[in-house]
Amino acid sequence: MKRTNYAGNTNEEMVGSTVVLKGWVAKQRNLGGLVFIDLRDREGIVQLVFNESENKEAFETADQCRSEYVIEVSGKVRLRKDPNPEMKTGKVEVVVDTINILAKSQTPPFAIVDGVDASEDLRMKYRYLDLRRPEMMRYLKIRSKVTSVVHHYYDQQGFMDVETPDLTRSTPEGARDYIVPSRVYPGHFYALPQSPQLFKQLLMAAGVDKYYQLARCFRDEDLRGDRQPEFTQIDTEMSFASAKDIQDVTEGLIKKIMKDVLDVDVKTPFPRMEWQEAMDRYGSDKPDTRFGMLITDVSDIVKDSPFKVFSGTVKDGKLVRAICVPGGADHYSRKQISKFEDYIKRFHAKGLAWVKVTEDGYSGPIAKFIGDEATALNERLGAKVGDLLLFVADSFHVVCDSLGWLRETIANEMGMIDSSKWNYLWVVNWPMFEYDEGRGRWIAAHHPFTMLNEEDLHYLEDGEDPHKAHAQSYDIILNGNEIGGGSIRIHRPDVQEKVLKALGFTKERAEQNFGFLIHALQMGMPPEGGLAFGLDRYVMLLAHADNIRDVIPFPKNSKAVEPLTAAPGTVTDEQLAELHLTVDDDKSDK
Ligand code: AMO
Ligand code: AMP
Repeated sequence: MKRTNYAGNTNEEMVGSTVVLKGWVAKQRNLGGLVFIDLRDREGIVQLVFNESENKEAFETADQCRSEYVIEVSGKVRLRKDPNPEMKTGKVEVVVDTINILAKSQTPPFAIVDGVDASEDLRMKYRYLDLRRPEMMRYLKIRSKVTSVVHHYYDQQGFMDVETPDLTRSTPEGARDYIVPSRVYPGHFYALPQSPQLFKQLLMAAGVDKYYQLARCFRDEDLRGDRQPEFTQIDTEMSFASAKDIQDVTEGLIKKIMKDVLDVDVKTPFPRMEWQEAMDRYGSDKPDTRFGMLITDVSDIVKDSPFKVFSGTVKDGKLVRAICVPGGADHYSRKQISKFEDYIKRFHAKGLAWVKVTEDGYSGPIAKFIGDEATALNERLGAKVGDLLLFVADSFHVVCDSLGWLRETIANEMGMIDSSKWNYLWVVNWPMFEYDEGRGRWIAAHHPFTMLNEEDLHYLEDGEDPHKAHAQSYDIILNGNEIGGGSIRIHRPDVQEKVLKALGFTKERAEQNFGFLIHALQMGMPPEGGLAFGLDRYVMLLAHADNIRDVIPFPKNSKAVEPLTAAPGTVTDEQLAELHLTVDDDKSDK
């Protein structure tokens, strides 16, 4: 029996013709003399009918079928007497002549239907069953469609698809490396790439000119709903290109993906926002511009306030900033606001000052400390009766993190976000360096191979402060998510050496880690730049999935375990010996 079409594509035009279908039993019902089977394949479900009085043999086989049996059938398509408007194939059914059971199935551990309530670990353990569910199959299809557009688009734009190694040396993208022990060289390790960054720069040195790759990246970092230890980048690099050239090519790709995958037209060029403005007004380097409620500086208004929290902070050279929550006075109770206050302590905020705007002025615990400033505050914040004003007084980063989080959380809670919007934008003109409090040192805000703004190159000279420099880097943001990032690269060896020095690398360590790159820069490196998209994260947003794991066929769970194969696993003593490794048994048990 050769299949004529997918079950899920059976339609009215086929009425009267004979079809051969193959797939899984989604549901079987015996109504006495009549068996109905919902047959599922990757395109959907169609109803099969078996009538005892018309075809006893087929009826008896159908009667034995259970959920998830694999069957093949041949039969005639007819219109349903009771069409099901919920189903894509709901107008038709197939009256079966012949049925063969190709494989039986044990009762599956969870029902294979959309909106399943099984735990995520159980779904991952039986991922092949989970992926049979139509919503999961939809995610796989969107992903496949996106990668197909990527290949066509870059091919048409003259980019070459070039592979780079997975067994390599450490590539500094800021996370911890996954390392692989070498059998041949005791005590030596490969690192899995955090991205193909250095290789794609070397491909520019090689004259590839325009490179792209769907590249697998590995980063051992704390996992979240939008992060996986192993993920895929749409990775690109271009020689002799300006930041604008790279952004134009990227916008072209996004336009095509939006049209071909979602049939949505997006307008280009996308808006550009300075990093400083993103931080000042949105409290985030990935601003969500689908709603307002912008952060406003009020330091000058409250600098002499009798409320010492405000005036004292300004005297210390720090900031007081606020958001005005429209209609927030009735929406939030004192208790809910104190929950916000507890939460923002994780950003090191010392407190959350708030007032509600009423007919009779401000109400709330600090209302009595605010006198004459109220008029100026209301005016600057655009506050009206019924609004809630939230203030944080602290350093730039604490204020941004706290008010940025509040802005997003409240917008979600109060339903201010129009989820039909697709707000793309570029965040540009980033600082070159940022101070990492955790590590107590300066790190590259993007990565150490990012080119500074030409006019900032002097900051690398002796006696100047390199940390004032800004970089030619850019992130692409969609609805408050960082979907990609890139930069113009350093192509001059002297600049590269100075940047590594500003990051605290000694000459020896720079040579040891990146000698191969610096040598390439000394041997005819074209000016160049590039960008990488997080494919998984982007597909998650395009598909409106809740979690990055849903759009990855075989993901790790939030504890970095892959429940299907139970990786990571232990290895035999022989394997360890071959690799010249010993394991502390106490620790491996835990
Ligand atoms: P970056 O580190 O910003 O840049 O990564 C590019 C994009 O990859 C996605 N991403 C991730 N997705 C899922 N899980 C993760 N753990 C994860 N980490 C990052 C994000 C991010 O925007 N080599 C540079 C790019 C360049 O300069 O060309 C790089 O890797 O969407
Ligand atoms: P206190 O005088 O410390 O009791 O604080 C009075 C009010 O100001 C409380 O509601 C605190 O949450 C709030 N508060 C304290 N420190 C800050 C700060 N740095 N920024 C904003 N509000 C603060």
